Amino acid sequence: MKTRLFLLLPFVFVHGAFGAETASATAVFVNPNAPEHVEIRDIGEKAINRVAMTLVNEVNAAVAKNGADKAIDFCHLKALPMTGQIITGMPRITAVKRTSLRLRNPANAPDAHEKVALARVEHDIEDGNPPRLLMQRIDRPGKKPEWRLYRPMAVAPQCLTCHGPSESLSPELRARLAERYPDDKALNYTAGQWRGLIRVSISDTPPSPAAPAPKAATKS
Ligand code: HEC
Repeated sequence: MKTRLFLLLPFVFVHGAFGAETASATAVFVNPNAPEHVEIRDIGEKAINRVAMTLVNEVNAAVAKNGADKAIDFCHLKALPMTGQIITGMPRITAVKRTSLRLRNPANAPDAHEKVALARVEHDIEDGNPPRLLMQRIDRPGKKPEWRLYRPMAVAPQCLTCHGPSESLSPELRARLAERYPDDKALNYTAGQWRGLIRVSISDTPPSPAAPAPKAATKS
């Protein structure tokens, strides 16, 4: 076992995935526009669009209806897929998550592969070259690859209601956030700043149907 680990480590280093959840998982970024990745990218992008739209719509509606301090109780937590929850009607999506370098909820903390993605986006933004999408392939021994698609999210003006400068928040909201998220690092953003990533995982192949699919009609 020791020897095996020793042999695997350089491999992990080469792939830039040091710190992965196990020494034997390797993660590489791939080109989302390469023809062999387009199908999976499109499935992932559709899911990300849906998550992003839900986020914006639900948050806007809840804030308008009940005010921001009440909205945090049910809107952000419930309307959005929680860590690891799968999207209805999208069987190839195996996980959905939001993460950030500045977390409000520690439960959204990045895993090893997300840390690499966050660092890469931060670096690209510093270079003045913010990426639109990142695609990552994660290989684990004996398993089909996990594909991940990441999209950076910017802070829109309406996000500032709950992520803006703390002095601009209502005292009720501030109190509620402090109570629920004592280690909140997601305040004091300004519009246009990079907030974090939406990540979806896509299975390499469609899930196998419960029963074998009916045979196609005889070919002509
Ligand atoms: C009504 C208040 C409210 C508004 C408006 C709001 N958020 Fe949040 N946001 C929260 C709360 C509360 C959490 C913690 C949710 C949880 O417990 O998972 C959160 C968490 C997040 C996270 C997950 C990472 C973390 O820090 O835990 C991201 C990313 C995020 N918000 C982005 C946005 C963006 C982008 C917008 C604007 C489109 C937005 N938020 C608008 C209250 C809000």
